[in-house]
Amino acid sequence: MQRTDSPPAELSDRAFTAVCELFERHSGIRLPAQKRAHVVARLGKLAAEAGLPSAEAYVARLILDRDPARIARTVDRLTINETYFFREPAHFDWLAEQLDQWPRSAPPNLWSAACASGEEPYSLAMVLAARLGLDAGWRLLATDLSAEMIEATRRGRYPMDRIDGIPPALLRDWCLRGQGPEHGRLAIARPLRERLQLAQANLAQPLPPAVVGAGPFDIVFLRNVLIYFDPPMRRAVVERVAQQLRPGGWLVVGHAESLQGLDLPLQLLRPSLFRRLV
Ligand SMILES: C[S@@+](CC[C@H](N)C(=O)[O-])C[C@H]1O[C@@H](n2cnc3c(N)ncnc32)[C@H](O)[C@@H]1O
Repeated sequence: MQRTDSPPAELSDRAFTAVCELFERHSGIRLPAQKRAHVVARLGKLAAEAGLPSAEAYVARLILDRDPARIARTVDRLTINETYFFREPAHFDWLAEQLDQWPRSAPPNLWSAACASGEEPYSLAMVLAARLGLDAGWRLLATDLSAEMIEATRRGRYPMDRIDGIPPALLRDWCLRGQGPEHGRLAIARPLRERLQLAQANLAQPLPPAVVGAGPFDIVFLRNVLIYFDPPMRRAVVERVAQQLRPGGWLVVGHAESLQGLDLPLQLLRPSLFRRLV
């Protein structure tokens, strides 16, 4: 029996291809066929919100109207935002070691370049605050293509089951357990939230002043986004991001991501950790 309160979860090949092309034009990312269920589910929700009967009808409207606001909202919703606190913990251990030797006179400037809902930049901020102090002059910019993800980062509220991975001392110092209507939720403490600079930035296009003006950076985390770009776009993105590093600055990518063959002035220090040479 077909439910009547949610749109049918199907999409023709033609509509799927049209939406993937639109997404790639805007984000630089080619959605793989395995993400079809993700695309159909997100389009179904957009259709319901727009009062349209199906994902197929939503795509038809999208293509016909070319309404920039609807296109932006669709691109936003189709982004793949999986993330968690202290993902790939070796990177945070490496950061803590660096910070322990960092000259106090020149506090570090960091950028989390595809921050999703904020778990990555807040993990960085907790390590920075624990090692250097909250008010030690370090800076941290967090950006993402998706405006919704930036908003989620700004809110800094997460389901309690996301706390796995946060070291107990950092959890105690920087996270609050929700009470009353917020029960079952975790909030990042306001003083830490206020230390983050947030901006929307599309890495597939020239970087906005909010990023360029905040650089040069000592350390950039560019993790688990390069996998979605094809090789020419991956090279363009890494080059663009590396230009925002100071010479000698570090670039951290995801463990599953390779920069092999990109021929850029980056020295591999260990898997997923690079240093800008010039
Ligand atoms: C899988 S999440 C990775 C989050 C985090 N860096 C981590 O490693 O857990 C990928 C993020 O990249 C963002 N993204 C996708 N295309 C982008 C683009 N062209 N520019 C900037 N961010 C993009 C998505 O919105 C998503 O939030």
